[in-house]
Amino acid sequence: MLTLDFSNMIARPNTAAGTAIPESAWAAAGQRFTDADAALRREYKDGVLGFLDLPGDAKLAAQSTQFAAEVRGRFTDVVVLGIGGSALGPIALRTALRPSGWNMLDPNARGGNPRLHVLDNVDPVTIASLLDRLDLARSLFVVTSKSGGTAETMAQYLVVRGRLEKALGSEQAKQALVLVTDPEKGALRAIARSEKIRVLDIPPNVGGRFSVLTPVGILPAALIGIDVSQLLAGAGDMRQRCSGGELAKNPAGVFAMAQYLADTTLGRHIDVLMPYSDALRDFAAWFVQLWAESLGKARKSDGVHVGPTPIAALGATDQHAQVQLFMEGPADKTVTFISVKDEGTNVEIPSRGKEIPELAYLGGHRLGELLDIERRANAGALAARGRPNMTITLDRVDAWHVGALIMMLEIATIYAGALYDVNPLDQPGVELGKQFTYAMLGRADAERARQEWNMLPQADPRWSV
Ligand code: PA5
Repeated sequence: MLTLDFSNMIARPNTAAGTAIPESAWAAAGQRFTDADAALRREYKDGVLGFLDLPGDAKLAAQSTQFAAEVRGRFTDVVVLGIGGSALGPIALRTALRPSGWNMLDPNARGGNPRLHVLDNVDPVTIASLLDRLDLARSLFVVTSKSGGTAETMAQYLVVRGRLEKALGSEQAKQALVLVTDPEKGALRAIARSEKIRVLDIPPNVGGRFSVLTPVGILPAALIGIDVSQLLAGAGDMRQRCSGGELAKNPAGVFAMAQYLADTTLGRHIDVLMPYSDALRDFAAWFVQLWAESLGKARKSDGVHVGPTPIAALGATDQHAQVQLFMEGPADKTVTFISVKDEGTNVEIPSRGKEIPELAYLGGHRLGELLDIERRANAGALAARGRPNMTITLDRVDAWHVGALIMMLEIATIYAGALYDVNPLDQPGVELGKQFTYAMLGRADAERARQEWNMLPQADPRWSV
């Protein structure tokens, strides 16, 4: 079960004005949501929301599970080459759904499953040190790119391919690669065709940050023994729950509408996601990309720049880092806590030092209990000081619940796109930086960007220390 409690977003009789959404505003938002839901349904009909079909796409899931079954036992390490939406999902799934410290466990503790590394960058230090310590003969490289041409991923691929060929020879190198990309378009697909390298499909109508339930996330998950059928089942259940235009019954709609109203009527432009679970730490990073890249852009109707700023936090850790800011900094944030009912394991705090007040009250409680009480305490404290917050509660961190949470936040992103009047599926704002990069690297088709780059003012030595 997954629930969303948004009581602390809604004004109570004694709530100071401007610190929570008035009940009347929430009631009035019902029609607005029905319109946003109708927009989602239109887009789905137009075929651009392919992520909604993923829970029921058994054929696509089988591409990953069959491949994982075929190679089972062959590899000690799986390395995902990719960035952004091609990397954050696999990282989040590994952290959430495999035992803590997965890559450090011995093979028995991993149930014979391989380690999973996800590059998500082109930092030479990280990549060189990983490649140096891998047994290349027992490593599988999953090259993931929807567009099939992202500079960082292609550079990772070229480096890895060079190393593999040197270590294993050209034919064996191909056996160490599997590509995940668009079924038709892009350089990666062309490479797969011409070099006969195994390739899995990302449906054309599923974009990077919505692709975790395609082979982008499902293949790495299956390779390391995650129950992907449960992941998809949880997502399917949530899709069903979010299939109506009645706001009160639609968790994704409530999440999107509460954040939207808090931003546009209360000035809460920053949306913090704060799981009280180490397993969900990287899930928050996945959400940050989804929310930021989908919603921060120019409004379709008038070009005004809009969009909430997401922040990832971790309870209880960030009570000692960011919560001071959330409590007493600018009143520009909402906090969404994620609470997990099942503590996962029972660690009792021993009763010791009964005469020392700083220790005595802790004895006899459990660590999981402490974690959850701290979450409740901080949610209450924020509410008491006019800081709106809500809580998503999962029964436990397992594949089913993570699948449900993924789907809820993906659908919420589409609703938020309709409310903000932006296209949540594109990312035009990253283009200029890409073009300047191509220009500096000498890419042949970047002449216009090269000209614009050369026209930019040079750094002024007066403004450098
Ligand atoms: O969400 C997105 O579309 C992006 O963040 C992409 O995932 C990222 O740029 C990588 O793109 P690609 O998968 O095409 O290599």
